[in-house]
Amino acid sequence: MTDISRRCADMQASPIRKLVPLANAAKARGTSVYHLNIGQPDIPTPPGYWNALKDSLPNVLAYGPSQGLPVLREAISSYYSRSGITIDTDEIIITTGGSEAVYFAFMTTCDHGDEVICFEPFYTNYNGFATMAGVKLVPVTSRCENGFHLPEALEIESRITDRTRAILICSPNNPTGTVLSPEELQTLSSIVQKHNLYLLSDEVYRDFVFDGGTHLSTLQLPEIEDRVIVMDSISKRFSSCGARLGNMISRNKNIMDAALKLGQARLCPPTLAQYGAARIYHNLDANYYSDVMTTYQNRRDVLIEELSGVDGVFFLKPEGAFYATIQLPVKDADRFASWMLTDFQLEGETTMVAPAAGFYATPGLGLDQIRIAFVLSEEKMRKALEILKEGLKVYRD
Ligand SMILES: Cc1ncc(COP(=O)(O)O)c(C=O)c1O
Repeated sequence: MTDISRRCADMQASPIRKLVPLANAAKARGTSVYHLNIGQPDIPTPPGYWNALKDSLPNVLAYGPSQGLPVLREAISSYYSRSGITIDTDEIIITTGGSEAVYFAFMTTCDHGDEVICFEPFYTNYNGFATMAGVKLVPVTSRCENGFHLPEALEIESRITDRTRAILICSPNNPTGTVLSPEELQTLSSIVQKHNLYLLSDEVYRDFVFDGGTHLSTLQLPEIEDRVIVMDSISKRFSSCGARLGNMISRNKNIMDAALKLGQARLCPPTLAQYGAARIYHNLDANYYSDVMTTYQNRRDVLIEELSGVDGVFFLKPEGAFYATIQLPVKDADRFASWMLTDFQLEGETTMVAPAAGFYATPGLGLDQIRIAFVLSEEKMRKALEILKEGLKVYRD
C-alpha cells in the first residue's frame, strides 16, 4: 500500500466539524444538541428558488457555460448595482460555491510556494484551498481586545517577502464578526500598491452589517481595481448553502481569462441551481435583505445580553456576519467544547461550539477561545447560551 500524498496528510481536520462524532454520541444517548458550531442558517430559502427549479426542468440536464449562465451573471451584476457598484458580466465567473472562488483566487494569483498574508483567526477552509493550490498562508494576528481589527500597517508589511503575492481579507468576518472600516481598507490599498500585491477579498457576508453600517466593498477602491479579486456566494445571502453557488469578481482581464481556464477544466457550475439563484435575485421582496440582516442582528443582541458580564468571558460586539470569537475562562476550549458534549447536559440538552484554535495558523493561539455562530432563533440562542453558562460554572480545567 503506498502512502497518501503529503498534501492531504498535511491538511488539518475542520475545527467546525471535528467534534461531530461527540455530538452524534450525545444525540444517541438522547441529549439534544444546540448547534452554535456551524454557519448553517435556519432561515428558509426564498421560495423563488424552488419555483424556478420546477419551471426550468429540462429534458436533459446539460452542461452550462463554464463562466456560468448569462441570466445569473446579469442578476449578480444588477445586485451589485443596487449598492452603486458597476460590474460588467464579463467580470463575473460563477463558481461552485464561494469555496471554489477562494480556490480560483489562489490559483490565478499564485504559483506553487508563493505566499499569501492573511489575518488570524481566519475562515479555516482557507487552509485546505491554500494546500490544494500549493500556497503558503502567512498569518498576521488580529486580537480579541481590538475587536479583531487589523494590526498596524508596519506589522502587516513586516511579513511581506519576495514570495508574497497577495493579502487575503474577509469582511464581514468569519469567525470574528469584524467589519473592516474604510480606513482599514485604505491602509490595505496602500500596502498592496506599494508592494505590488493582489487583494483577495472574501465578501460572502456583505449583506450582514449591523447597527446601521454599510459594507464598503473592495470593488469600490478604484485605485486598486486591477488588484482586487472578490469572492462571493449565495450560501448565506439566500440561506442556500446546498445550492453550491458562488462567484468570483475581478476587473483584471488577465485574472478573469485565467479563471475561465480553471472553469473550463471543471466544465461548469451546477446548472439547475443557477436558474434558482437567478430567480431569487430577480424576485426578492424589497425588504428581504434588511429583514434577514435584522434577524441576525437581534440574535447578536441576545448573545451580548446573555454573555456580557459573565465572569472571565470576553468579546467585543460583532459588527456583522453571524459569528463571534469569544474568550472563555478555560485553559483549553477544545477540551471544554468536547466536555459539553460528553459530560454535560441540562434537562436533556447541551450546546455545541467550535474551539477557536483551529482558526489560527500560529500554534498556541486561541486556546481559550470559541467561535459561536448565531444561526438559531432568539429563543433557541437564549437556551443554548444558558446551557453554555451553566456548563462554564461546573467545568474544571
Ligand atoms: C468566509 C467564508 N468564505 C467562503 C465560504 C464558502 O461558502 P460556500 O462555498 O458555501 O459558498 C464560507 C462558508 O462558510 C465562509 O464562511
